[in-house]
Amino acid sequence: MRIINHICDMQRWSEAQRVAGKKIAFVPTMGYLHEGHLSLVLKGKKQGDVVVVSIFVNPMQFNQQSDFDKYPRKDEQDRRMLEEVGTDVLFYPTAPEIYPEGFQTAVEVSKVADPLCGAFRPEHFRGVATVVAKLFNIVKPHVAVFGQKDFQQCVVIQQMVKDLNFDLEILPMPTIRESDGLAMSSRNARLSPAERHTSLSIARALNHAQEMVTEGERRAEIILKTVQEILTREGGVRVEYASLCHPETLEEVTQLSGPTLLAIAAWVGEVRLIDNRVLQ
Ligand code: PAF
Repeated sequence: MRIINHICDMQRWSEAQRVAGKKIAFVPTMGYLHEGHLSLVLKGKKQGDVVVVSIFVNPMQFNQQSDFDKYPRKDEQDRRMLEEVGTDVLFYPTAPEIYPEGFQTAVEVSKVADPLCGAFRPEHFRGVATVVAKLFNIVKPHVAVFGQKDFQQCVVIQQMVKDLNFDLEILPMPTIRESDGLAMSSRNARLSPAERHTSLSIARALNHAQEMVTEGERRAEIILKTVQEILTREGGVRVEYASLCHPETLEEVTQLSGPTLLAIAAWVGEVRLIDNRVLQ
C-alpha cells in the first residue's frame, strides 16, 4: 500500500490511473477503522480497479474543539488493517495541507442539511461537504463509497454531487453491526462496558419500530412515543432526537405511507451515538 501525504502527489497518482483507463474507487474516513470501514473498502475494491482510502480527522466538521480532541486515533493499526484488505493508496494529509493559511471557501448544502443532526450540530455538514468536495477534487474518484449509519451525510453528499455536477457515483452501503445489534462506530471505543450495554436500547428501539409498522401502525406520533419509551426505560440515555422522515427529502412525516427513515441521535454518558433504519 502506498501512503501519500501531499495533495499534488495524490492528484498526480490519480491522473495517471485515469490516463491508464483505471477506475478509481474512494472511501473517505476519519480513521479509527473498524469492520464497517473495511466493508466499504471491500465494496470499493469490487467497484473499481484501484481503491484509495483517506484518513483525515476534519476539524471543520466538529462543533466543539473538545469533541475533535477526543476523537479516537490509532494510525498504525489503521494502516495495517487497510493493507490487509488490499487498499492501493492511503491518502493521509495533515490539517495545514487541507486547510492552508488563507483558506476561505466553504460548500453549504441547505434543506437536507438542516434537520436531524444539522439542527443540533450547526456547521457540521458545512464542514463535511467542504472536505468531501476537496477530497473528490484531490482523489478524482469514479465512485465513492459511504456508510449509511451516517444516513443524513449520504443524503447531503448526494445532493452536493448532483448540485455541483461532480462527475462520480456515490454508493451508500448498509450499516455494519456488532453481533448484539450495536451499529459499528469509532465512537463505541469511548463507551464503558455499562454504557455499551445501555447503548443497545437504540438498536432495540429501531427494531421495535419496524415491528410496529409490520403490524400495521402508521401514526408517527405513536411510533415515536414508543421509541422514546424504549430509549429511556432503563436510564442512561439522553435522546437528542428521534425522528421519522422521508428518506430522500428528510422532511418529517406524521403518517407513514412508504419507506420511512427512523433516525436517532442519543447521548450515552459523554458519547453521542447515531443510528437509523428505513422502516418498510
Ligand atoms: O463519515 C466520516 O468519517 C466523515 O464525515 C467524512 C465523510 C470522512 C468527512 O470527513
